[in-house]
Formats: sequence, C-alpha cells, structure tokens
Amino acid sequence: MQIQGSVAVVSGGASGLGEATVRRLSAAGARCLIADLNADRGKALADELGGAFAQTDVSDADQVQAAVAQAAELGPVRAAISCAGIGWVGRVINRDNSPHDLMPFQKVIEVNVIGTFNMMRFGASAIAASEPNDDGERGVLVNTASVAAFDGQTGQLAYSASKGGIVGMTLPAARDLAPVGIRVITIAPGLMDTPLLGLLGDEGKAKLAADVIFPKRLGAADDYAALVQHIAENPYLNGETIRLDGAIRLPPK
Ligand SMILES: NC(=O)c1ccc[n+]([C@@H]2O[C@H](COP(=O)([O-])OP(=O)(O)OC[C@H]3O[C@@H](n4cnc5c(N)ncnc54)[C@H](O)[C@@H]3O)[C@@H](O)[C@H]2O)c1
Repeated sequence: MQIQGSVAVVSGGASGLGEATVRRLSAAGARCLIADLNADRGKALADELGGAFAQTDVSDADQVQAAVAQAAELGPVRAAISCAGIGWVGRVINRDNSPHDLMPFQKVIEVNVIGTFNMMRFGASAIAASEPNDDGERGVLVNTASVAAFDGQTGQLAYSASKGGIVGMTLPAARDLAPVGIRVITIAPGLMDTPLLGLLGDEGKAKLAADVIFPKRLGAADDYAALVQHIAENPYLNGETIRLDGAIRLPPK
C-alpha cells in the first residue's frame, strides 16, 4: 500500500514502539490517529506531527469504534496498527501454593487480545470502505505480539497467553480479509528499548542485552517502526508473524 496520503490508526501510539511508528509513518506522508490512554503524550505528539488523538482504552469497543471513525474523517484509512499492550508477572501458583489470581490474567487478555481484536475489526471495517489500488489492495493490519508468545518465561503466563492469542488471530484474519484486499501481519518483538523497560536502568538493560545473539543490543523502537513501514509497503507479506529479536531465544528465567 502507498503510505503517502493514507491514514493510519495506531493504538498505543503515545509511547515506545507505537510512538516510533507514528513518527515514521508521518515522515513517510501518512496522517496518524493516535489511540491511547495517555492524553498528555498522545495530544502533544499528534500536535507535533499534524496528526490526531483520541483518548482510547482499546479494550472498550465503543471507544475504538469512535477512534476509527475519527480517523476516517481525516482521509482514507489504510492501516490499523496495534501497539497498545500491558504485562503482568505471576506464576500458575504462588510461592505459598495459592493459585494465580483471575483478575490480572483477565485484564491482560482484555487489553492485549480483545484490544487487538477491536482494532482489527473496526480498523478492517474502515479500510474495507476505501478504494482498492490497481492490485486490489486496500490496506493492512499490523499487530504486536512478543517473543513471549513462543518462549514465555517463568511468571509470564498471562502475557504469553495474550501474545499467543494475537499470533493465533493472524492467519485466520488474513484469510477472512483476503476478499477485501486487506493483509494482516503480526510482529513479535524481542527485548526493545522503550519506556516499558525504563525502570531497569542502564545496568539492567545491559544484562538483558547480553542474551541477544546479534546485534548485541536491545532493539530500538525505530527498528520496529522500520518493519511496520516495510510491511505496509511490501504487498506480498501476509498472514505471518515476524520475530524482530536479534535471534534471542528467551531462557526459562
Ligand atoms: N518493549 C519491549 O521489550 C516489548 C517486547 C515485546 C513486545 N512488546 C509489546 O509492544 C507493545 C508496545 O510496547 P512498548 O514497549 O512500546 O510499551 P510502552 O509502555 O512504551 O507503550 C505502550 C502504550 O500503550 C498504551 N496503552 C496501555 N494500555 C492501553 C489501553 N488499554 N488502551 C490504549 N492504550 C493503552 C500506553 O498508554 C502506552 O502509551 C506492547 O503490546 C508490548 O507488549 C514490547
């Protein structure tokens, strides 16, 4: 798809991987609607880049629908990119053998899986209303899983389940949306240097980077954004989850 002149909705676009994506797509000529909980950062970024902001909790269907409708007022929606996500640490049973609480597990599923599902369905519905290009393509959905979908570490039960759910939606959604010319790709990042890892400090980050095979560093948010741009521009990528991880395979802990 052609990025120039298109509209992209980016959930989680106020920070980290989503922010880098908004910056890159805007530089390539798209108008981005940032759908995020964080109004201060989201509005400031939208103002800086000439985009738009909608305060959105992705797990709330009405709010996602309203955000996508707002995006459609800017021009033809061609991309819905899901970067909003949360984590949780907890084992199947705690050290005192009491069971993992249901609530945090449910919350992670609501934000990560249902939130992505909401972005996919309302995003695709808007993209389907736009004119196809000469190859019959209308646009693309990009989701964000994690390498934890495949090599979940101890304590990552809820997070891995949610990211596995996103991987699982990728192929059936690509098949569902083929008749309207919408591609679906999921990115599974490894260890990325975003505000999510900010609490670790430089020493903690260096420790994490030691497990990366090559290049021996954390991923940059723009490594992710560059892949989103490539996915948007490469019409033959579809129905696949792409690891973006410097070949890391997460150890048990
Ligand atoms: N940073 C990493 O190492 C890493 C690795 C693998 C996967 N991921 C995934 O990448 C995505 C982006 O992570 P990041 O590192 O950029 O994090 P981040 O914390 O920098 O950004 C996440 C953004 O999502 C927003 N958000 C959170 N819950 C929301 C909700 N319910 N509705 C709308 N917006 C919401 C936050 O306000 C924030 O702006 C997440 O899905 C995360 O699981 C990150």
